Amino acid sequence: MAEPTPAQAAAVLRRGGLVAFPTETVYGLGADASNGNAVARLYAVKRRPRAHPVIVHFADAETAFGWAREVPGAARTLAARFWPGPLTLILKRSSLAKDFVTGGQDTVGLRIPSHPIAQALLRHFDGAVAAPSANRFGLVSPTTAAHVRDDLGNDVDLVLEGGPSEVGIESTIVGLSGATPVLLRPGHVSKAEIEALIGPVGEKDTSSPRHSGGLERHYAPRTPASLVPTYALDREIAKGRDKVAVLAFSRPDERVDYWLRMPRDPQAYAQRLYAALRELDSAGCERILVEAPPDAPEWTAVRDRLRRACRAA
Ligand code: TXA
Ligand code: MG
Repeated sequence: MAEPTPAQAAAVLRRGGLVAFPTETVYGLGADASNGNAVARLYAVKRRPRAHPVIVHFADAETAFGWAREVPGAARTLAARFWPGPLTLILKRSSLAKDFVTGGQDTVGLRIPSHPIAQALLRHFDGAVAAPSANRFGLVSPTTAAHVRDDLGNDVDLVLEGGPSEVGIESTIVGLSGATPVLLRPGHVSKAEIEALIGPVGEKDTSSPRHSGGLERHYAPRTPASLVPTYALDREIAKGRDKVAVLAFSRPDERVDYWLRMPRDPQAYAQRLYAALRELDSAGCERILVEAPPDAPEWTAVRDRLRRACRAA
């Protein structure tokens, strides 16, 4: 059977359906952001609490900024540099952004993905698409169409195929609705790159529950996972109590049941991270051990996801 096209997917969105689509970060589960019933179904399928806002996706910046009632200079600067691309901006909402997409907040998350199939879908649809990652709430985000089908099965009306996501982790989120810019979620676009353009950026207040990426346990496999410093990896393996699966930089150790070797380049690591966690999760082991990447700025986004994946349930 022929793969569905972006034009067909746009038609599904128009009649209130749910479409999973590739982006350069992770696959999204999209609904018409102006249709309350469609968004309600999106939340139900995700099993996501209603108070958590979703990011709204557009084909271009001008349409996106129509959903904001104030567009600060910093937003224009970042948009000019990074859109389309893996950056989400949080701005004060206009009347187009209803409570059902903002979780009742006075702000809205805006993103212009660069993936050609996402772009084609958004152009055909010619509107705003609410899209969280296309997985059930709290689990690892999908980076292939197969991951989406595994997670959501028949709960999604159409899945657009777009190959493995290039970035592999969710977009960087910058909050520009307050007095000073804040980094709400680290990602491929780094804090340093943002600060070079708009000046100092604060770190998020981790107590803020309104930002679901900010929940303590998120992006998590089902198998209990722990983050282990390189020096302690051998000692953990030597304990030999549980059947373990390991994600590490070094070569496989024959005492270990399942070993995945990861690249030392942070971008290549991020690209493979979620597929690797899924693979280890289905290896039938009792525990996952993850060798901690270096504590260096280029690893911030990966370390953020690993920290959440490895928190005890
Ligand atoms: O890369 C991405 O951003 C992917 C792809 C599909 O675009 N989407 C994604 O969506 O990661 P989601 O819903 O899984 O995560 C969106 C994050 C959540 O933590 C949400 O709470 C936050 O963005 N967010 C959305 N609107 C917000 C707002 N108005 N204020 C604060 N946080 C917001
Ligand atoms: Mg998500």
